[in-house]
Amino acid sequence: MTANEIRDSFKNYFESKGHAIVPSAPMVIKDDPTLMFTNAGMNQWKDIILGTRDPEPRRRADSQKCLRVSGKHNDLEEVGHDTYHHTMFEMLGNWSFGDYFKEGAIDMAWEYLVDVLKLDPKDLYVTVFEGSEEENLVRDDEAAGYWAKHVPADHIINGNKHDNFWEMGDTGPCGPCSEIHLDSRTPEEKAKVPGRELVNKDDPQVIEIWNIVFMQFNRKADGSLEPLSMNVIDTGMGFERLVRALQGKHSNYDTDIFQPIIKEISRLSGKEYGKTEDVDVAMRVIADHLRAVSFSIADGQLPSNAKAGYVIRRILRRAVRYAYTFLNQKEAFMYKLLPVFIGEMGGAYPELVAQRELIGRVMKEE
Ligand code: GLY
Repeated sequence: MTANEIRDSFKNYFESKGHAIVPSAPMVIKDDPTLMFTNAGMNQWKDIILGTRDPEPRRRADSQKCLRVSGKHNDLEEVGHDTYHHTMFEMLGNWSFGDYFKEGAIDMAWEYLVDVLKLDPKDLYVTVFEGSEEENLVRDDEAAGYWAKHVPADHIINGNKHDNFWEMGDTGPCGPCSEIHLDSRTPEEKAKVPGRELVNKDDPQVIEIWNIVFMQFNRKADGSLEPLSMNVIDTGMGFERLVRALQGKHSNYDTDIFQPIIKEISRLSGKEYGKTEDVDVAMRVIADHLRAVSFSIADGQLPSNAKAGYVIRRILRRAVRYAYTFLNQKEAFMYKLLPVFIGEMGGAYPELVAQRELIGRVMKEE
């Protein structure tokens, strides 16, 4: 399946389960003092989750444009050096606002991955929140019980607060979560070390693909947890990682999300991908950052010297620096990649097509 077909299959599956398919919110956030960019699919539903906005329709699904440029794995300076972290990425998500809860979310996630996408259950591991004395919370035995319907006990792994209690930020909706991890190593590697030992250990071939959050609390400014007025399901699946798994690749950049851009970088620069590490990193940086900067500009955030604008300026300049240093590009370069990039993504995100002229002009001027 192509990336575009995979995105459609997610929406079709959840639509068949009674979800309204809704558009992505803008990646740039203008009205929330706690966030500059959308960093998770649930951001646009914060008010519903906190009970201050109408929850109807109670089942929704979408593909959300997200940007993460800080945090353990998403330090801007690291992106491009590995094969599975990005600044901008798409998050496939399904939500239930006071409708189904843990069992429904787990059953649907499993059915979609195993019955629809045909991932091998032997390669899937799930994690559950082990509890936290400090928060006065016990292990999520309920989620573990539902997972046990689908996977053997040695595929269910306890996780700590860091990995298995999802929080939007310092304050706001939060709750225990179950992550689904995929082992895409070779059979020989799997025979040597069981996948369960590599979950959450930074192995590039054993990675989290889907996080299912059981939102039950609102974290208050004083750090306390207040129960929500309804139970909410918030899931986030890393689209680029899913595509990589389904296309049988070992790097997100080898999928048809990134390859057309990388081929264009290669054609324009005369350098080949896959020959030297410096050039490869540069091409990955440029391909990743092209997406982040284009979507930001399309959503109304131009590069500038302050706040969100400064983040975008830093991302764009980092890409330019790599193009200059490793691909010998001494003139404006990024904007030349737009026809290929927008050709690939414009169908799913028409704002790129609508803002194409502005994106090109801003990139060139910057
Ligand atoms: N809100 C779920 C996630 O971002 O993983």
